[in-house]
Amino acid sequence: MSHDFGPAVALSCRECGARYPLGPSFACLECFGPLEAAYEFGNVTRADIESGPANIWRYRSLLPVPADVATKPNMNPGWTKLVKAGNLGQALGLKSLYVKDDSGNPTHSFKDRVVAIAVEAARTFGFHTLSCSSTGNLAGAVTAAAARAGLDACVFIPANLEAAKIAMARVFGGKLIGIEGTYDEVNRFCSELIGDPLGDKWGFVNVNLRPYYAEGSKTLAYEIAEQLGWRLPEQIIIPIASGSQLTKIDKGFKELVALGLVEDTPYKIFGAQAAGCSPVSTAYKAGHDVVQPVKPDTIAKSLAIGNPADGPYVLDIARRTGGAVEDVTDPEIVAAIKLLASTEGIFAETAGGVTVGVLKKLAESGRLDPEAETVVLNTGDGLKTLDAITGDDAKPTAVIRPSLDAFRAAV
Ligand SMILES: Cc1ncc(COP(=O)(O)O)c(C=O)c1O
Ligand SMILES: [Zn+2]
Repeated sequence: MSHDFGPAVALSCRECGARYPLGPSFACLECFGPLEAAYEFGNVTRADIESGPANIWRYRSLLPVPADVATKPNMNPGWTKLVKAGNLGQALGLKSLYVKDDSGNPTHSFKDRVVAIAVEAARTFGFHTLSCSSTGNLAGAVTAAAARAGLDACVFIPANLEAAKIAMARVFGGKLIGIEGTYDEVNRFCSELIGDPLGDKWGFVNVNLRPYYAEGSKTLAYEIAEQLGWRLPEQIIIPIASGSQLTKIDKGFKELVALGLVEDTPYKIFGAQAAGCSPVSTAYKAGHDVVQPVKPDTIAKSLAIGNPADGPYVLDIARRTGGAVEDVTDPEIVAAIKLLASTEGIFAETAGGVTVGVLKKLAESGRLDPEAETVVLNTGDGLKTLDAITGDDAKPTAVIRPSLDAFRAAV
């Protein structure tokens, strides 16, 4: 049966290059390497893209989706703000800083981008249930997208996630299963379920639909370049959980260059992790090519993947582009959330605290070029991780009687 995946023509193995037809498969039969979408792009112009809708479908000719994708019910994520962050830049001594604020997506994280592509693949393969293993944001993005698309949903999370993420994943309907264990255990459980009749006709967005899902992160690269006036940034700071987003942003930049949509200018990619779950940063600093799994313990729960599938690729990209991988502690994450909020009016979730914290650390240690155009990603909304804001910060500055005298005394 032939499926319409637009410019995507095959799945190819990232390790050995073996090619497979476009299907719901994710691992190479030769070497068990991960599969990704391979393309034959037509002639894509800036004008075609610019005349498209103000969402990720303006890039449909670069994604594994049919040309009429925008006519089907989906969440239409993307085209989020690229905020010129002059105040934060000044605080950190960076001349030209931008925040790509993906908290503006429909379910308030960048995960709506990847899920939108996976929903289309699920429809194409005739799956009736949309599923995932999630560190929180993905669960909400999947249940919302399934509701809109008229699919069933059953999603899996570690049972100890933030209350807001649990409520958000429930409110759209479907089943939300809390697993007593870490994300890595949830993920292993999902791999078992795929091989069981219980999971028949289920599209696990980040497992058997991963080659399609992952491509959604390329849209961050496309948008940033287009919003900068069709230019690549010189430095970019990206959070790492599985590492998929970071590797696909690199892929997106390379495609724009290959298609002649931007000039071939150098860019440095910096990965950001929480110190309490920093397997990639640890490997980077030790000069290793392999990533040793860890057991996460951090407030940045959305990034708490101890065994990141794309870890080795992230190491390659950071080294190839002249970037780095760095990590910050939980108190540094909280301080960075407050710094971003008080300088730019953007309330980031803990993942945004990780990227801004790493940005600060890199800037202060002289590892960023202060003159270079720099983009830091905020991938989620602070309202989902309110527990990170505690003590006096979670209370009014003062509580007074409604009188001028009381106010005078308080300020
Ligand atoms: C808010 C947020 N940012 C970033 C990431 C990192 O995603 P990846 O697994 O692609 O590295 C996640 C993953 O769950 C997330 O929830
Ligand atoms: Zn292979």
